[in-house]
Amino acid sequence: MRPSICHIPFLLLLLLHVVIARPFFPLPSKTSNEVKKPIQTFRPYNIAHRGSNGEIPEETTAAYLRAIEEGADFIETDILASKDGALICFHDVTLDDTTDVSSHKEFANRRRTYEVEWSNVTGWFVVDFTLDELKTLKVKQRYSFRDQQYNGKFSIITFEEFISIALDASRTVGIYPEIKDPIFINKHVKWADGKKFEDKFVDTLLKYGYKGQYMSEYWLKQPLFIQSFAPTSLVHVSKLTDSPKIFLIDDFIVRTQDTNQSYWEITSDDYLAYISNYVVGLGPWKDTVVPTANNYLMAPTDLVARAHAHNLQVHPYTYRNENQFLHFNFHQDPYAEYDFWINTVGVDGLFTDFAGSVHQYQELISPHPKNATANSLLVKIAQMIAAYEGH
Ligand SMILES: *[C@@H]1O[C@H](CO)[C@@H](O)[C@H](O)[C@H]1NC(C)=O
Ligand SMILES: *[C@@H]1O[C@H](CO)[C@@H](O)[C@H](O)[C@H]1NC(C)=O
Ligand SMILES: *[C@@H]1O[C@H](CO)[C@@H](O)[C@H](O)[C@H]1NC(C)=O
Repeated sequence: MRPSICHIPFLLLLLLHVVIARPFFPLPSKTSNEVKKPIQTFRPYNIAHRGSNGEIPEETTAAYLRAIEEGADFIETDILASKDGALICFHDVTLDDTTDVSSHKEFANRRRTYEVEWSNVTGWFVVDFTLDELKTLKVKQRYSFRDQQYNGKFSIITFEEFISIALDASRTVGIYPEIKDPIFINKHVKWADGKKFEDKFVDTLLKYGYKGQYMSEYWLKQPLFIQSFAPTSLVHVSKLTDSPKIFLIDDFIVRTQDTNQSYWEITSDDYLAYISNYVVGLGPWKDTVVPTANNYLMAPTDLVARAHAHNLQVHPYTYRNENQFLHFNFHQDPYAEYDFWINTVGVDGLFTDFAGSVHQYQELISPHPKNATANSLLVKIAQMIAAYEGH
């Protein structure tokens, strides 16, 4: 059957309405003095990874508005810098996978090869484009199995535009920006005032009133977690702001981009004791917390228990509803995965591509406060694994 106008999804109409009605976000927020519904703090945080990017191309205004509509506690973003030093929301250092850059003839000669985190990468790099040039591109969906209808509709946004989306929300919505690839950015982008990428990042947050320790009065009004894989960046920004920071941890085989440390070094008890002077939590790749084999979960590591023993929260990444990403233990039910991580592993937050599903899960299926008693959790996990082994 040929699609008719009646079949244009309602969501798209809503989005177009919102986006066209509000093409520019007034800076600073015009609603910052309103009394808003506070952020929930009694259960694990629902962190909308790159916005609601399971549905809408990542890190776009539409993806963030959708995540807020779906009940996210935090909207998450990756901050990179343009050639002329503008801070933008974009995940990859190259534009190839999530924009239409390859169809722009005027940029055909802009492809380069640079070393990025210990390997050579070829593509169109964000650091070779001015903000004005980046704004001429359109963002597209990263995965072929996700909805392609929004490709070409939305632009790359700046860090400031992202902040305005959070501040303009009708309830309190936190932000969760990452200092992305700081070694690479500081090598390729220079600011006239001699400041570093991390300084510009913090300047932007302070300019819009983001400050204060975790759970302080300021924090509750404008909740923020600063995240980075680079420990030296986290230590550096600790001198500039007391806002809470999260240390991201990659897969077992990945070494840190700045200190060239292994996974095992940065998850040792000594290191957790050290880094807990600077951060309030860890953001580990979830398969390092519960390793997998043949797409089944194996016995969990003690990372969550040890992090909690150091008074560190744990916010693993990334939860995705699709079959491609669900381990077989969850019998293709994303709620079963959320249930396992929230109630059995006892995490304190989840980075998800589907903030709406985490919200539904927390509101409708498991409305209980978190209970992250690490020792009892390990017993439960052991029981679960034993049950699976019988299959
Ligand atoms: C990247 O390429 C350059 C030039 O060919 C080479 O000198 C360098 O060793 C390469 N780096 C890595 C990490 O492979
Ligand atoms: C990083 O550490 C590994 C393991 O010690 C070492 O083999 C490698 O040469 C180091 N890389 C750099 C750039 O220092
Ligand atoms: C958390 O769970 C443990 C083990 O099931 C239980 O003993 C404890 O009472 C629970 N704590 C709270 C605050 O519910």
